[in-house]
Amino acid sequence: MTSTGIRLHAPAPGWSIAADVVVVGSGVAGLTAALRCEAAGLTTVVVTKARLDDGSTRWAQGGIAAALGEGDTPEQHLDDTLVAGAGLCDEEAVRLLVTEGPDAVRRLISTGAHFDTDDEGGIQLTREGGHHRRRIAHAGGDATGAEISRALVEAVRARGVRTVENALVLDLLTDADGRTAGVTLHVMGEGQHDGVGAVHAPAVVLATGGMGQVFSATTNPSVSTGDGVALALRAGAEVSDLEFVQFHPTVLFLGADAEGQQPLVSEAVRGEGAHLVDGDGVRFMVGQHELAELAPRDIVAKGIMRRMREQGAEHMFLDARHFGADMWERRFPTILAACRAHGIDPVTEPVPVAPAAHYASGGVRTDSHGRTTVPGLYACGEVACTGVHGANRLASNSLLEGLVYAERIAADIARERADNGLHARVPQPVAHPETPAHPLLAPEARFVIQRIMTEGAGVLRSAASLATAADRLERLHAEARGALEENGKTAEPGVDTWETTNLLCVARVLVAAARLREETRGCHWREDHAERDDTHWRRHIVVRLDPDRTTAVHTTDDADFPPTRPEALVAPRPLEQ
Ligand code: SIN
Repeated sequence: MTSTGIRLHAPAPGWSIAADVVVVGSGVAGLTAALRCEAAGLTTVVVTKARLDDGSTRWAQGGIAAALGEGDTPEQHLDDTLVAGAGLCDEEAVRLLVTEGPDAVRRLISTGAHFDTDDEGGIQLTREGGHHRRRIAHAGGDATGAEISRALVEAVRARGVRTVENALVLDLLTDADGRTAGVTLHVMGEGQHDGVGAVHAPAVVLATGGMGQVFSATTNPSVSTGDGVALALRAGAEVSDLEFVQFHPTVLFLGADAEGQQPLVSEAVRGEGAHLVDGDGVRFMVGQHELAELAPRDIVAKGIMRRMREQGAEHMFLDARHFGADMWERRFPTILAACRAHGIDPVTEPVPVAPAAHYASGGVRTDSHGRTTVPGLYACGEVACTGVHGANRLASNSLLEGLVYAERIAADIARERADNGLHARVPQPVAHPETPAHPLLAPEARFVIQRIMTEGAGVLRSAASLATAADRLERLHAEARGALEENGKTAEPGVDTWETTNLLCVARVLVAAARLREETRGCHWREDHAERDDTHWRRHIVVRLDPDRTTAVHTTDDADFPPTRPEALVAPRPLEQ
């Protein structure tokens, strides 16, 4: 696969540094990859968009799932993951996750992460949706991600791994053979490495996190703008399963017009016995699924949306008054503080909740070593689609996936270097074109994109809502393109415009995939195709931007899937950057 030649409009790099590996992103996946690469003797640079601990990992509450408890086994973890994934998990990828997971967690503990323990010193385990056993390790009650982030950031600093903060990655550099040669990036710094520059490296690990900011209300921080997926598409890599956006069922409801990052109310609160109730105090999940409030996340989100529609309500409630003040303070201090900051006291009143965008189950398509379809480009964590999550990620599998697949990537890079010196060569990037003729979007368009996506491609989707979303996104693109072509005008290059342009890129691909998938499966809910359709749709939708600047959207037939619809290779519409 070669680069599309499409790049973000940006000045030519004014400075450069070199390394064996550049890791883009500093969540659990990025920092684990960096630590393991450095330990393998590879010169590693971590570049990250804001500060080292500003990504999604820090916000993870519930915990990290692994078969660590007595009587639990990787096989049972595998079964729960496959059920949640609704027929689209890659079983081998899941098997690697669940078998390598427990030791990866132990290595994280050796790196310095402290998990909550019981009176005997064993790791305390809780339950979340879709898990038939207690297998979620947590830290600081409901501050698991913050503790993992703290431990990894400290380790990276202690081991002297080079880091570049406030650095937005722009595009992949490739050599004359189409192999990875590094990245271009924009650094808001001072002195030597300021403005647009380049890190030259024969291996690039994308660990840029998710794209939740493509929707109006999300649990994701403001940095989650789909930069890695957009970069990979421009680089000619394949992305897969983008239509499977997970909406977390219980996000603190702050009003129908609330925008941006919203406080999460962890599934672990339900795992410890909280009930979902409607405005009349009735538990509506009982009878809908054998696990009631602890059904897989998509089922609970749908249950909430259905009840909201039946009652014309804007939200439902999570009732955990019976925990009492002690348990709230000890077990869920972060959530308690967030609720109280918004004038709600969960100790004395039910908490208003509604679904919001939470996790991209799809992403940049990789194999079991984290390799993408572009040689030398790897992906791990939320930006990747390893096949582990299928149509719906099982709760708390994401931190584990970040750990396990980051370790696999580092092992692969080290092995390649030892075997054939591939990653030891000095990369020779081909010249970076200064002014590609495609438009950047003004930062104000971000809110327009978010509104379009929430209205047309949110929890509930239909052919009509998706067509409207697609048309509105195309119009946005056409307006920017028209301004460039007619008056040579485009938005001023800068962090906000690059992010907004990335958001439009991933939004268009997401909508194209969601239109194509005419069924309801996992977290993709089509009102006009209410049933799961295994005959036609037990397959992945894979998207790539072709060098001729059209989007090729096609479906794959994994070996064990029934071969159907040979005509499914379609190019629905031009998708220029
Ligand atoms: C939660 O704590 O509910 C979120 C956990 C996850 O998304 O895996």
